[in-house]
Amino acid sequence: MITANEGSVTIMVPDFTKVSARAPVFYNPAMEFNRDVSVVALQVFQRLLGGEISVADTFSGSGIRAIRYLVEVEGVSEAFANDINPLAVECIKNNSLMNSVSPEVSREDASIFLRTNHGRFDVIDIDPFGTPAPFLDSAAASARNNSLLAVTATDTSSLCGTYIKPCLRKYSSRPLKTEYCHEIGLRILAGFTAMNLARYRKSASVLLSHSSQHYMRLYIHVRRGARRADESLRNIGFILHCFKCLHHEHMKGFVPLKQECPHCGAEMEAAGPLWVGDIQDSRFIGEMIGEVENKKLNTATDVLKLLKACLGEAGMPPGFYDIHEVCSKLGRSAPPLRDVMDGLEKAGFRVSRTHIRPTGIKTDATIRDIEEVLEGFSV
Ligand SMILES: C[S@@+](CC[C@H](N)C(=O)[O-])C[C@H]1O[C@@H](n2cnc3c(N)ncnc32)[C@H](O)[C@@H]1O
Ligand SMILES: [Zn+2]
Repeated sequence: MITANEGSVTIMVPDFTKVSARAPVFYNPAMEFNRDVSVVALQVFQRLLGGEISVADTFSGSGIRAIRYLVEVEGVSEAFANDINPLAVECIKNNSLMNSVSPEVSREDASIFLRTNHGRFDVIDIDPFGTPAPFLDSAAASARNNSLLAVTATDTSSLCGTYIKPCLRKYSSRPLKTEYCHEIGLRILAGFTAMNLARYRKSASVLLSHSSQHYMRLYIHVRRGARRADESLRNIGFILHCFKCLHHEHMKGFVPLKQECPHCGAEMEAAGPLWVGDIQDSRFIGEMIGEVENKKLNTATDVLKLLKACLGEAGMPPGFYDIHEVCSKLGRSAPPLRDVMDGLEKAGFRVSRTHIRPTGIKTDATIRDIEEVLEGFSV
């Protein structure tokens, strides 16, 4: 057996040589960061709701999430730990005993589990192998009013556009391999989740989203109501990108109009449909930042770094410009990023970094405005 310590819990899983879906019971130590962020997000969400909350860990594996939520998040009065693998179910039971908690353990296909427990959970955590797409319909049907839907996707090569057809198949959306393709992936996942929810007259607001390591993770606030769902669908649209000069823009609506790049005249390519609304909620993330120090997290420094970067992105337009790519197109060297950001700010534009790339900046300036600011620096 392998022993792992995370947050305030200790669990054991059967020996495995490699982290893989073929391990007897799945446990990936590299996802501790993902789970640490989840603990903080659930705590903040619980406080927003007030009172006791119930949490569903639909793909529980070793039980680590359900157990950590019960032990580390105040106000979690009940947790459900479900997994289709019988060995995982045994493992969840043993780990629960070891940590003196009693989640309700089940062995169902996640979709059946979600549908048979319709409307029962304040938080639904979806953390499958690869894509969450086949489970989001059941999650959307099951989600109750004023609940949190937390979704992990590890099929980043589809969402980021390395492979286009699988993304079309799974998410009915076209990805685009730009420098901000990870952000496009997050937006495709957010848009797809919102469209699933809308079918059940539920709305989506994205509270936090991050692309880290080999996965993407979204925290979505779900509310009931046809009008709210219609409002939420106003955030669906397309991102148009010009590969010639790097200009990009977004448009709302379900029909992309192929457009000429307003800067260089080349034909722009479209990604979507996807979420073009905000993918970071400053209030929620601000609360999370305050909460980190209250938790015992091995990755606290990295969690804070991520949350501060995501906070900076709130309210900024979709996409970002990679200043190194822009400079390389212009055949010049890149000035320090901070100086470019200051230059843009001085010219009256809004600017932030992105958690996705250290050389990326989000801004409401156009590619031409950026080029003008760059002209002010020596080559
Ligand atoms: C990525 S692992 C979950 C990891 C776990 N949430 C954690 O943080 O360590 C995916 C789990 O889903 C289970 N699984 C796969 N297909 C499933 C299905 N259709 N319904 C329920 N569980 C499933 C697998 O047995 C595996 O334990
Ligand atoms: Zn162009």
